[in-house]
Amino acid sequence: MNVLIVGYGRMGHMIESILRSRGHNIAGRVDPSGAGDYESLRPDLLKDADAVIEFALPSSIRENAEIYADAGVAAIVGTTGWDARRDEIKGVIEDRGGTYMWGSNFSIGAHMLFILAEKAAGLINSAIQYDIMVNEYHHKLKKDSPSGTALTIAEKIINKSELKSEIVTDRLDRAIEPHELHVGSVRGGAIPGTHTVTLDSTADTIEIKHTARNREGFALGSVLAAEWLQGKKGFFRVEDFISESLGV
Ligand SMILES: NC(=O)c1ccc[n+]([C@@H]2O[C@H](COP(=O)([O-])OP(=O)(O)OC[C@H]3O[C@@H](n4cnc5c(N)ncnc54)[C@H](O)[C@@H]3O)[C@@H](O)[C@H]2O)c1
Repeated sequence: MNVLIVGYGRMGHMIESILRSRGHNIAGRVDPSGAGDYESLRPDLLKDADAVIEFALPSSIRENAEIYADAGVAAIVGTTGWDARRDEIKGVIEDRGGTYMWGSNFSIGAHMLFILAEKAAGLINSAIQYDIMVNEYHHKLKKDSPSGTALTIAEKIINKSELKSEIVTDRLDRAIEPHELHVGSVRGGAIPGTHTVTLDSTADTIEIKHTARNREGFALGSVLAAEWLQGKKGFFRVEDFISESLGV
C-alpha cells in the first residue's frame, strides 16, 4: 500500500517504521509542526494513496474526514478526543461514500485482554468462590487515573458479571461491598501501561496481565487495520476489524 501519515509525532514515527517493515510505501507525512513533508492536509496529497493513517490532534477531525471521503481513500483514525462528534463524522463518511475506521485503542493485545476479562467475569458467575478486581500501573507523567483501558476492562466485567454492578476507583476507608468492582491505579517510573485482572479465592489466585512495552502495539494494529480496510466501504470501529481477525 501507499500510505499517507497524518500526525508525525510519536505515533506517526512508529507507524512509519511498521509500514516500512511490512513492505508498504510512505506517500508523505503531514504535520503542522513542520516535522513532516507537508504542514497541512490537501486533497492532492491523497491522489496516489491507498490509505491514510491519522494519529494527530482532533481540531481538524471533520475537515480531514471530508478530504479522505472525497478522495475515496481508506482512513484509519487513532486520534482521540472527539467522542462527542462520532455521529457527525459518521454522517460525513456515509453521505460521501467514504471508508473510515476509528478506535481509541488499536492495540490487538489490549483487545485480547478485554476479551479475556469479559470471559473471566462470565466464568465466576458459575464459580462464586472467586472475587474479581482490576489494577493498572502507568508512568509518573500520566495526568489521569484510572486509565481509559482500565475503565474499558471494568465496563466489560460489569456487563458480564452477575456479582459486580458498580466500578469503584477511590481509596477505600471501609470494607468493599460484594457488588463493587475495585479498579486501582499506581503511578511512577516510566511504565508505558500495565493492566491486571485478578481472580481470587481462598484457594488460589489467577492473574490476567497485559504489559505494553512501547507504542508498537498501537502502530501495528493501525497498519493491520489499513490492510484489512482495503476494498471495504463505510464507517467502522476498530472492534469490527479485531473481532473478525481474532475470530470472536
Ligand atoms: N487509538 C490509539 O490506539 C492511540 C494510541 C496512542 C495515541 N493515540 C492518540 O493519537 C494521537 C497522537 O498521539 P502521539 O502520542 O503521537 O502524540 P504526539 O503529541 O507525539 O504527536 C501528535 C502530532 O500530531 C500533530 N498534529 C496536531 N494537529 C494536527 C493536524 N491537524 N494534522 C496533522 N498533525 C497534527 C502534532 O504537531 C504532533 O506532531 C493523540 O490523539 C493520542 O491520544 C491513540
